[in-house]
Amino acid sequence: MVEYQHVTADMSVYRDGSIKLHGPEGFAGMRAAGRLAAAILDALVEKVVPGVTTGELDVFVREMMLDGGSVPATLGYRGFTHSCCTSINHVVCHGIPANKVLKDGDIVNIDVTPLLDGWHGDTSRMYLVGDVPLKARRLVDVTHECLMIGIGLARPGARLGDIGAAIQAHAEAHRYGVVREFCGHGVGRLFHDAPEVVHAARAGTGPELRPGMFLTIEPMINLGKAPVKMLSDGWTAVTRDKSLSAQFEHSIGITEDGCEIFTLSQTGRDKPPY
Ligand code: MF3
Ligand code: CO
Ligand code: CO
Repeated sequence: MVEYQHVTADMSVYRDGSIKLHGPEGFAGMRAAGRLAAAILDALVEKVVPGVTTGELDVFVREMMLDGGSVPATLGYRGFTHSCCTSINHVVCHGIPANKVLKDGDIVNIDVTPLLDGWHGDTSRMYLVGDVPLKARRLVDVTHECLMIGIGLARPGARLGDIGAAIQAHAEAHRYGVVREFCGHGVGRLFHDAPEVVHAARAGTGPELRPGMFLTIEPMINLGKAPVKMLSDGWTAVTRDKSLSAQFEHSIGITEDGCEIFTLSQTGRDKPPY
């Protein structure tokens, strides 16, 4: 049985498997963290060009997080040593910034999570490096559609499985593979909290959404088959068949009649072309 609890300040960090229901103070905290996260992804638009390294992008992200009064939630998280994840082409997620040069035609996901005043703004977008082939651009477009279709279903009374089912149906209608090994998650004062938000599911299953729940939705969609494999660095996940993979992520809060997207771009740059 799923347990829900209205959180007070001290309870909001409990890792007890319960689904937390936040109040106005949580919404205000997530709004601020989400806005900063979105502003960082906005600012990256002009930095992601052929010739830049993912390590340089990481430094830029780190400084912008610190300038904004936050700290990078990924820095030191389970041994991760960078301020964002940079996942290029067939990398599905958790790519480690390094001295790898971005080249014309690459697609790259940048995933940032500033921790601001105790709240995690977790969001990612795809960036197109120079001229990107139509097949890859279509994958990126459909992946963003998958995210927004999922968000469109997020309201009280819906079930998490409704969101996964709709995302899966849209991706598979384009013959894309939906990654199963990683999912969205509860978010808030904890980076990764209950529940798991799966991106492939049966409608009508899973926990019911209630006002005050904070979640991420972050579908990873492959041009080829769904299975992923881990590289020996222990972080980088790649498609088994080496096909391209795309991902977008928002942090949202369930309201009385729908949801609020905490990590929307304030400048309309939620997806390419920027
Ligand atoms: N931001 C990722 C997510 O969406 C988590 C990255 S954890 C890291 O949940 F350690 F790999 F950075
Ligand atoms: Co996330
Ligand atoms: Co993320």
